[in-house]
Amino acid sequence: MRYRISENEVKWAQETFGLIEKKISAECDRIGSRMPYIPVDGHYHDMGEEHLTWWTNSFWAGILWQMYHALGDKKYADSAVGLEERLDKALEDYQNLDHDLGFMWCHTSVAHYRLLKDERAKLRGLHAAAILASRFQPAGNYFRAWNTPGESVAIVDCLMNLPLLYWGSEVSGNDSWKRLAMAHADTALKEILRPDGSSNHIIKYDTETGEVAEKPGGQGYGEGSSWTRGLAWAVYGMSLSYRYTGKQEYLDAAKRTAHYFIAGAAVNDYDVVIDFRAPREPVYYDNTAAVCAACGLLELSEHVGEYEKELYVAPALRLLHRITERFCNWNASEDGITTKGSARYHREEDREVPIIYGDYFLVEAVLRLLDKDFLIW
Ligand code: GLY
Repeated sequence: MRYRISENEVKWAQETFGLIEKKISAECDRIGSRMPYIPVDGHYHDMGEEHLTWWTNSFWAGILWQMYHALGDKKYADSAVGLEERLDKALEDYQNLDHDLGFMWCHTSVAHYRLLKDERAKLRGLHAAAILASRFQPAGNYFRAWNTPGESVAIVDCLMNLPLLYWGSEVSGNDSWKRLAMAHADTALKEILRPDGSSNHIIKYDTETGEVAEKPGGQGYGEGSSWTRGLAWAVYGMSLSYRYTGKQEYLDAAKRTAHYFIAGAAVNDYDVVIDFRAPREPVYYDNTAAVCAACGLLELSEHVGEYEKELYVAPALRLLHRITERFCNWNASEDGITTKGSARYHREEDREVPIIYGDYFLVEAVLRLLDKDFLIW
């Protein structure tokens, strides 16, 4: 086992995976190839019908591929392939796609290609990588996040899209995609992440000169705050950039952001709030940040020395235990496992609700602990 956890922890992970399997199997029978986001009255609607280019539309496929990899049950692969095929229309909708091509096609086509060597899936993944590469802004050296006319921003979340380009470079031999990904990661080191280990969410650029114009708070509490999911993206994203490039600065940044995340989580006994630099009251949780950070910490632990691993594995376990003790819905007739996830600080409708990416990271984390995951990023 690569995390060398105790027998008790292995037993706990096995039991948790037993609960996950029952729930996801029932959801798979209900949901099939639909695209879940946030359940309403205990049930997902199909985001693919409403907004096919929405950034979260592939996390369900990611869950299905992880389940297929762990269990070998073809029903998971069939539903994931159905979802991937539905996304072909999104791939044609060039002007409505944003930088989240990594989230959308790593969890579908890249996973499909990695597990089953499907050639059509490989082409879809490369096509998505080419579109992401086309968003690179040479004035400023970053990938443009969204499509608001007259505005150009880089956001911390994009660190999780870079693996699409690292993968694309490996399978196509097109090294320039890897270089663009590293240029964006270098800009994140300079402008997005702060020296103290916390992170900005958004950097607004002057589109002509590429100079930084503003650093607004984005989905966190406000300017200068520390949005926790953004920080989780940084921990995991920088660890992944290190995995693909071996550049020491990325590993150091992953450690710094991990240390800030762990310190912030420890303040509330490892229950994670939406922003580590927001007023203590009201308490708003974001468990999607907790499970994403747990995966990032586990990834990070794989790249450090033997006597350092525990620094990251132990808090990952603490975060996961808190989630399963207090924030999981195991009722198989209702959709969504991880409760109290928050898309953003300042909007009540999507605060403290189950969100599909929370479930993805929970599944990945538990499978990592059992050595039954595969690298989807
Ligand atoms: N990538 C957008 C978010 O984390 O909400």
